[in-house]
Order: sequence, then structure tokens, then C-alpha cells
Amino acid sequence: MWTKTIEWLGDRARLIDQRRLPEEEIYVDIDSVDGMYKAIKEMLIRGAPAIGVAAGYGIALAALENCDKDYIKGKIEFIEQARPTAYNLFYVANRMRKLLKVKDINPSMFVEKAIAIHKEDLELTEKLGVYGAELLPKKARCMTICNAGVLATGGIGTALSIFYKAKEEGKEIVVFVPETRPFLQGARLTCWELQKNGIEPILIVDSAISHILKTEKIDSIFTGADRIARNGDTANKIGTYGLALSAREHQVPFFVVAPSTTFDPAIERGDEIPIEERKAEEVTGFRGTRTAPENIMVRNPAFDVTPHNLISGIITEKGIVYPPLEKGLEILI
Ligand code: MRU
Repeated sequence: MWTKTIEWLGDRARLIDQRRLPEEEIYVDIDSVDGMYKAIKEMLIRGAPAIGVAAGYGIALAALENCDKDYIKGKIEFIEQARPTAYNLFYVANRMRKLLKVKDINPSMFVEKAIAIHKEDLELTEKLGVYGAELLPKKARCMTICNAGVLATGGIGTALSIFYKAKEEGKEIVVFVPETRPFLQGARLTCWELQKNGIEPILIVDSAISHILKTEKIDSIFTGADRIARNGDTANKIGTYGLALSAREHQVPFFVVAPSTTFDPAIERGDEIPIEERKAEEVTGFRGTRTAPENIMVRNPAFDVTPHNLISGIITEKGIVYPPLEKGLEILI
């Protein structure tokens, strides 16, 4: 049974609190749009497609609170401010916003649209997995970064869907998982969900990436994406750019795995993608334990952009796009 990352219960959404994993599996009910904004901002739910699905339910909750067009419009703009980088949030907000053009709106329209978006996300991730699994030999050693799995989507994941589908096909998969400081999505979330679903993770510290790529035989690297520009430049969790550079040096294929809902047709190049900077406290300590001196200057960019020339291919629900990415990505427009 896949973990229910987010579930609609008729008048509220239930989320697994990803801040507490892997120690505790706590589910939290969100019954207001303001509550959903907070859940996204504080990362109870995270991962680009899951943020999009959560935003859809958040907007549905706004419509249930007050089905006035100006109220809903204001709340859509509000929830869009929860996190800046993941395009799926804006993709879903735009789809929900379109409902405001209907003359007589009612709350059910918003709820049904949010449920439909969630269902679509599940279907998209299944397709990604099928395309990606074809790339893997019978026994594969792979690497990923952050968490691009069940916990990051409304379905079975983006990058991790490939391992799940390959396993279904009888392939043996081992996955090297960098911890992904500072939020530890790799250590806490990816290792937890891979283990739970019968795939062997090998946890490494982030700074071991190049050493492992140099000394171990790694067939391919698969990462998710938060936003893809028209030329294929891809924003993903901080550290992905370094991983891609090292992959190029060690001649390991580097694949991005993302549904079309992460592709931003309005952005030509990666340097136009807004990069979220998060609180210093995420870097100076963990869960209340300080690991750095007081009054230290900190930078905490949560994402970086991998230039398209370092990407071997982008796995989408419409197939695998190989370089030149800009041309190939036209199938998503
Ligand atoms: O800060 P997060 O945990 O929301 O960042 C998540 C990632 O960077 C994922 O790799 C990305 O959203 C793709 S998830 C399918």
C-alpha cells in the first residue's frame, strides 16, 4: 500500500506530516486555505507535484469557506506565495483560477477540479515510471537526490517511480541516496519510502557524491524537477547542479524526471527561475539542536539550476526528450 501523502476527505485534506518522518507517521487534517498555505510553506507537504495537488485542495477549501469570486481570487494569489520555485503550484493555481470565468460558480466545481488534478498527477507519475524503467538493465545501481517519490507527488513519484516500475518488471535496483541537507529529504524521506516499498537504498552524505560516482559503477542518475525552462535548464533541490557536474565528469547519464506540469512555457532559460531562500535556522541546527555558532551569516538557497547541457534526457509522460532539449520539449507545449 502506497503512503497517502495527501487525501481529500470531503470537507478537508489529510496530509502526512513530512517534518516528522521517519520517526513518526503523523497525519494532519487541513480544513482551511490559510492552513494549507502554512502546510506548504512549512513543508508538512513538499515536492513540486505534491505542492500543486495541495494548492488545488487549498483553493477548494477557500471556495468552501466563501464562494465569492473576489475572495477566491485573493486566496489563489495568497497560496501562490507559499513557495516560489515549484512551477506546479502556479500551474494548478492557474487552472483553478480559470473556474472564476464561469458565470455562476459553486464550491463543488472547485472541489471536483482539485480531485481531478490529483487523479491526473497519479496517472502522469505512472507514465513517467514506465518510460524511465526501460532505461534500466536487469540489475541496476542508480543515484537520486532529495525526495522525488510518493511523498513528493499525488502519485508514485517522478524519479522514484522509475525504481518502482523497474521493480515491478522484476529488475533488481540499488539506489544511492545523498542525505540532502539541510531538510534531509534524502535521508529521512527517500530512504524511508524506498525501504517501505522494497527497494534497497544506500545512504551517503552529500559530500560523498563525487567519490561514489568515481569509485562505484552507477548506471544512471534520476532526479525530479521543480521547474523546467523552455531550453531544458532545470531547477531542482540544492546540490542537483553539483551532482550533474560530477556525473558529466564521471560519464554517468543524468536524467531529469518530471511531468509536463513542471514545465514552465513562459520561462526561456534557467536564470529566470525564482530560487527560494529559506530560513538560516535550517542550516544552523536541526530540530532544536544547534550545530553552528550564534550570530553566523548564512545563505540557504533551497534550489539550484542545472544547465541543459549537463542533462542526458528529460523523462516526461509523453516520452523521453533527448538533446537538443529545447526542440524536444516542444512536445509539452
Ligand atoms: O524543498 P522540497 O522538498 O519541496 O524540494 C523538492 C525537490 O527538489 C524535488 O526533487 C522536486 O520537487 C521534484 S519532486 C517529484
